[in-house]
Amino acid sequence: MPPNIVEVVVHARWRLNIFNRASFTGSRTMQRWQQLPEIPGLAMEGLALTGASVDIERGLVSLIVLEMGGSSNLCALLKPGEPVVLMGPTGTPTEIPAGKTVVLVGGGLGNAVLFSIGAAARAAGSKVLYFAGYKKLVDRYKVAEIEAAADIVVWCSDESPGFEATRPQDKSYVGNIVKAMVAYASGELGVQPVALADADHIIAIGSDRMMAAVGLARHNQLKPYLKADHFAIGSINSPMQCMMKEICAQCLQPHQDPETGKITYVFSCFNQDQPLDQVDFPGLATRLRQNTAQEKLTSQWIRHCVNDVG
Ligand code: FES
Repeated sequence: MPPNIVEVVVHARWRLNIFNRASFTGSRTMQRWQQLPEIPGLAMEGLALTGASVDIERGLVSLIVLEMGGSSNLCALLKPGEPVVLMGPTGTPTEIPAGKTVVLVGGGLGNAVLFSIGAAARAAGSKVLYFAGYKKLVDRYKVAEIEAAADIVVWCSDESPGFEATRPQDKSYVGNIVKAMVAYASGELGVQPVALADADHIIAIGSDRMMAAVGLARHNQLKPYLKADHFAIGSINSPMQCMMKEICAQCLQPHQDPETGKITYVFSCFNQDQPLDQVDFPGLATRLRQNTAQEKLTSQWIRHCVNDVG
């Protein structure tokens, strides 16, 4: 896995029996069962996580964690067989379009979720065009799963020389993901086995800045290449706490109606998939950075404690 990303695989057979295959993208909370015995005081608070995939036959849930400072950093210290408390999924599962043309736009960690959505969409008879974007070449993971989830993958990286596509139909691009979409749609990358102009649904999952850029580009540089009535959503990973719907309000997300300008608020823990044209991205960016100082301090404290014990 790339640096700062941890995959936690939880064995939870009895829970999976009641999962719907399409429900893997609902949010979950995970918590350590007990404190680290060797480092008293490093208990883990509940973490709101998005499930990456499930293996129903083997009873496994895969959860991808980005180390942000705090409990997320402690996930790397979990030991095989150690019990955790896993609650969920909660919230509305991602809608899987059937018999449509679906464009997936993934940035970094977002690709850990998108490949499951792509696989489900293909199983439902949709065509999938997948733009998978990364900052560095070392950031890419689950390549086989992403390939299996898409008819075409456009591998994008900010870092040169870019990825080498292994399947003949796939493409590679060095630069940001919006430029990659323009290059693909304009024919700069060659033939389009699945045309961007056929897209019915666009699903973007990545950083708030990436999703905001994709949302905006649809009305500017990508507009000539898209159907006017396509539908675009982003998975809004706003800060969360209780995940119990209208209890703590940590997940509040402002929306702005693009026609009237009217501001409304939604509880993201009900549904993380929100229309790109309505999300107030500056508001989301501010909220995502609200704990920055605390995260930096906690990260240093954990490093200090772990190094002391080691
Ligand atoms: S996270 Fe508490 S109400 Fe949504």
